[in-house]
Amino acid sequence: MPHRWAMEDMRLAKRHTRDSSPRGIFVTATDTGVGKTLITAALVAHLTQRGIDVGVMKPIESGVSRSAKAQSDGARLQRAAGSHDSMAEICLYVFRLPVAPLSAARADGTIVRVAAIVRAFRALRKKHALMVVEGAGGVHVPITSSLDVLDLIYRMKLAAIVVGRSGLGGVNQALLTLNALRQRNIPIVALVLNQLRPVHTTTARVQEQSTVNLLRRLAKVPVVGPLPYSPSVNRNWNEGLIRLAGTAPITKLARLVLTRIIHEGSSRKRADAKRDGHSEA
Ligand SMILES: Nc1ncnc2c1ncn2[C@@H]1O[C@H](COP(=O)(O)OP(=O)(O)O)[C@@H](O)[C@H]1O
Ligand SMILES: [Mg+2]
Repeated sequence: MPHRWAMEDMRLAKRHTRDSSPRGIFVTATDTGVGKTLITAALVAHLTQRGIDVGVMKPIESGVSRSAKAQSDGARLQRAAGSHDSMAEICLYVFRLPVAPLSAARADGTIVRVAAIVRAFRALRKKHALMVVEGAGGVHVPITSSLDVLDLIYRMKLAAIVVGRSGLGGVNQALLTLNALRQRNIPIVALVLNQLRPVHTTTARVQEQSTVNLLRRLAKVPVVGPLPYSPSVNRNWNEGLIRLAGTAPITKLARLVLTRIIHEGSSRKRADAKRDGHSEA
């Protein structure tokens, strides 16, 4: 274990036994299919390899067929964390139709209850040092007739990671998503840029450089990546994931997450001490 991490890991492990603060991160994205599951699973695998007890949730998942349950996002996150929590706890709402949660729920004659997700999250949080939750689609994807993913993040009281594409079109999508989160005062841990396709041509390279440079200047949050295109994950998910978990972008992301969680804990401790009438050290 690299030395600079040791202290943070220890502090996190200690906090687990002491309090019941949010200790969680919500992974959202600029779109569907931009790498949320891959990046969430790689982050979870990295933290788990470091000896941190990570709990996972994919509270709403659509497009899960009976025959491909092992390839569902929920199952992939469960494996990345080596979690013993049941799929019923990890994935509260599973729909067959590969459409937005509100439509998928309607097709199944169900309604998603955000309060049930928050309750399930709180129960899981008690068992783990840190929770990592993968959203569905992007922030304005409707979950119920009146609530979207942004409302879900807000009600779970979590900080967000935003995953976006590193290529052409990435700037506008990322800035729109970051602004939506800021408008609700949702803390943003990082913007992770993902190379969804191999970058072979000079044009593609120039486009990526432009997107990354512009976002480093304009995002006003730490920018991680680009996470390189890794064909191995599509050949063998588990092996590809382990490789990805050790890369520099995922290591940087893990560091930002741990720093955020520790900072959250210190702020809460100060707030608790103030409320209880203790003076601050
Ligand atoms: N950096 C990458 N290298 C190779 N394949 C990737 C990369 N990022 C995403 N993919 C592939 O793209 C698809 C969509 O990614 P996924 O993580 O499922 O997106 P989301 O969860 O946002 O819908 C998956 O098949 C995934 O393996
Ligand atoms: Mg996914």
